[in-house]
Amino acid sequence: MTVHGIEARQRAQTAAGKDRCRTGLPTGSEAGVLVLGGSGLLGRALGAAYDMAGIWAFAPPRPVVDATDAAALATMVEALRPAIVVNAAAFTGVDAAEEHREACRAVNAGIAASLADAVAGIEGTLIHISTDFVFDGEANRPYHEYDAVAPVNWYGATKEEGERAVRASGCRHVILRTAWLHGSARRSFVSAFLDRLAAGERVDAVSDRVASPTSVDELADAITALTARLRAGRPVPSGTYHFAGKGGATPRDIALEIAAICRADPRLVNGVSAAGRDEPARRPRYAALDTGLARARLGLEPRPWQDGVRRTVGLLSGGLLSGGNGRRA
Ligand SMILES: NC(=O)c1ccc[n+]([C@@H]2O[C@H](COP(=O)([O-])OP(=O)(O)OC[C@H]3O[C@@H](n4cnc5c(N)ncnc54)[C@H](OP(=O)(O)O)[C@@H]3O)[C@@H](O)[C@H]2O)c1
Repeated sequence: MTVHGIEARQRAQTAAGKDRCRTGLPTGSEAGVLVLGGSGLLGRALGAAYDMAGIWAFAPPRPVVDATDAAALATMVEALRPAIVVNAAAFTGVDAAEEHREACRAVNAGIAASLADAVAGIEGTLIHISTDFVFDGEANRPYHEYDAVAPVNWYGATKEEGERAVRASGCRHVILRTAWLHGSARRSFVSAFLDRLAAGERVDAVSDRVASPTSVDELADAITALTARLRAGRPVPSGTYHFAGKGGATPRDIALEIAAICRADPRLVNGVSAAGRDEPARRPRYAALDTGLARARLGLEPRPWQDGVRRTVGLLSGGLLSGGNGRRA
C-alpha cells in the first residue's frame, strides 16, 4: 500500500465509529448494509474499507441499539430491511468471559441468534464473524471447516453456540471464522511487540502456541468484496468459511517477523512457554486455519500471515517501516 493509501485508510478509520455511527435511523432505502459492532477493531476497519469502496453502511452505536435486546434488534432490522447485515459485535475478552459468563453468552450467542432470526424474516444475508477458538487445538494440521468443533473455553463455547444459531435460523449466511486479529485502531500483540523492539527492549513471546494471525484490514477488505459480490447479485453459497492470514505462527514467530521489519536485533525476542502464563481461560495449542474453501467458493484468498503483520506495522508506523522487505542482510 502507498503512503497515500495508508493515510486515506487511517483517516477513514478515525472517521469510522464516529461520523459513520449516525445516531438516528436512516430510511430503509438508504440502509443497504447494517453493521453491528462498528466501534470495535474489525468494525472500524470495515467502516474504512466500505468508505474506500463507496459502500454506505449504517453502524448504530450501543447507546442507540443494545443488540442484546432482541426485540429492539428485530424492530431495527425490520425497519431498515438491509440487504446485508454484518455481525462484528462480540464479547471478545477471552479471560473475562470465564467470569462474566452470562454477559458473554448474551452477546456471542444471543445476538447471533436474534439477528439471524431477524435477517431470515426479511430474507437478507448475514455475514457473521466467528473464531478459531471453536476448535480444541489438538490438531497437527490446519483446521478445515468440516473438522469437529470442541471449544476449550467459555468464549469459544459461546461463539460456537452463535454459529449454530445462525445455521439453524435458515437465513442466508456466511460465517467467517478468523483468528488473532491485529490492526492499527487498537493495541494488539503486534503494536506491543513493535513498541518494545523498536525501542531496543526485550520481548517475551510464547513459542508453543500456534494460530493464523490476521490483518483486520485484510479481513475488512474480504468482507467488502463479499458485500460487493452480494450487491451485484453474484452467487454466494451459504456456509462456514475460514478467513485468516495464510499459515500458522507462534507469537515468537510474529515477534521475529516484526524484528526483521524494524531491523531490531532478533536476540531481543525471548521464546517462553504458554504454560507459565496466568490465564483464567485455556487456549487452543494449535489453531491454524485452512482457508482453501473461501478461495474456492467465495474467491477470497488471504495473504500469508507475514504480509498481514507487515501491513499493520506499516499503518502503525505511518508507512515508514513497511517499504522494501525490511530484512536484515
Ligand atoms: N480480536 C481477535 O483477535 C479475534 C479473533 C478471532 C475472532 N474474532 C471475532 O472477530 C469479531 C470482531 O472482533 P473485534 O476484535 O473487532 O472485537 P472488539 O474490538 O472487541 O469489538 C466488539 C464490538 O462489539 C460491540 N458490542 C459488544 N457488546 C455489544 C452489545 N451488547 N450491543 C451492541 N454492540 C456490542 C462493541 O461495542 P462497544 O464499543 O460499545 O463495546 C464493539 O463494537 C468478533 O466476532 C470476534 O469474536 C476476533
